[in-house]
Amino acid sequence: MADQAFVTLATTDNYAKGAMVLGRSLKNHNTSRKLVALIGPNVSEPSRAVLHKLYDEVRLVDVLDSGDAAHLALMKRPDLGVTFTKLHCWTLTEYSKCVFLDADTLVLSNIDELFEREELSAAPDPGWPDCFNSGVFVFRPSNDTYEKLITACSENGSFDGGDQGVLNSFFNNWATADISKHLPFIYNLSSIAIYTYLPAFKQYGRDAKVIHFLGKVKPWDYTYDTTSKTIKGQSLDPSDLYPNYLLQWWELFSSSVLPPMKEEYGEQPFHSGCTESDVHVEVAQMHISHQPPPPQISSQERKQQWEQGQADYMGMDSFDNIAKRLDSFLK
Ligand code: UDP
Ligand code: GLC
Ligand code: MN
Repeated sequence: MADQAFVTLATTDNYAKGAMVLGRSLKNHNTSRKLVALIGPNVSEPSRAVLHKLYDEVRLVDVLDSGDAAHLALMKRPDLGVTFTKLHCWTLTEYSKCVFLDADTLVLSNIDELFEREELSAAPDPGWPDCFNSGVFVFRPSNDTYEKLITACSENGSFDGGDQGVLNSFFNNWATADISKHLPFIYNLSSIAIYTYLPAFKQYGRDAKVIHFLGKVKPWDYTYDTTSKTIKGQSLDPSDLYPNYLLQWWELFSSSVLPPMKEEYGEQPFHSGCTESDVHVEVAQMHISHQPPPPQISSQERKQQWEQGQADYMGMDSFDNIAKRLDSFLK
């Protein structure tokens, strides 16, 4: 067990916040495995210090970038070239088996049983189910595999410009060879999928074990008010039948990640005279204050984005809004 680990990656302070919540969620569900965070050189010292409190190992890696603007543009995610950095996880050869989790995932129950699976086990991608989604996967560290993957990147590139394209080309018999390598969808439940097949979510969603906040807008892009325990811009219906995963992420962030962050960052970034809850919101936003709000778009553009899997699922296309609309049809 000591030679098995959950692994994540953060190349920025924002993704580091995700890694902190993820680490906390794994610990809260009493994992018996080690926790490893791969970080890039741009992660700040205070964020590294918080990661050290939560992770058994915090390893600095070189940032690899596909530089493949053309393929990344097809996904409308120019930022994802750096996900090639994820491939470094194969170099963790002191571990015999690992489970990689994206920094934008949240664990809802103990998932140590994933270590019973073999490389490469993963759940289907919600956009193209014959491909696996590389936000959650089981792998065996090996320098040999790492070298082969890097060679594959340089020789063939990636069909999506990120790690998921390379990994699907490399482990190209995943879809057909061995059903035990298909993780149940509850181990990588992306919010996009919830909306596109709501009845299935109502049937199986209660068993969800890992939520993946896949897409451009991440939980840390929102503002949370610690007093009212609400997320700004999200309409919350207390009679909501469905779990609000975004709120769960923020509850964990504010209760377990903000206190150590505040310790590490000190009071210096805060202006005087603010309330405790202002302080919390401010620490949470420390590295996102330059992020512009999502632009207003026409319904035609919105439809196009939907069809391209780019739903604004935590804003306009939020689960609450969609559930309400469906309910209005059912009434
Ligand atoms: N990542 C990172 N820095 C970045 C972009 C991505 O560290 O600038 C890592 C992080 O672990 C993230 C993963 O790569 O969860 C995949 O990116 P993302 O989750 O944004 O992709 P999506 O799941 O939305 O397609
Ligand atoms: C995907 C995956 C993510 C991966 C990205 C780039 O949508 O969710 O984990 O890094 O594509 O390939
Ligand atoms: Mn992700």
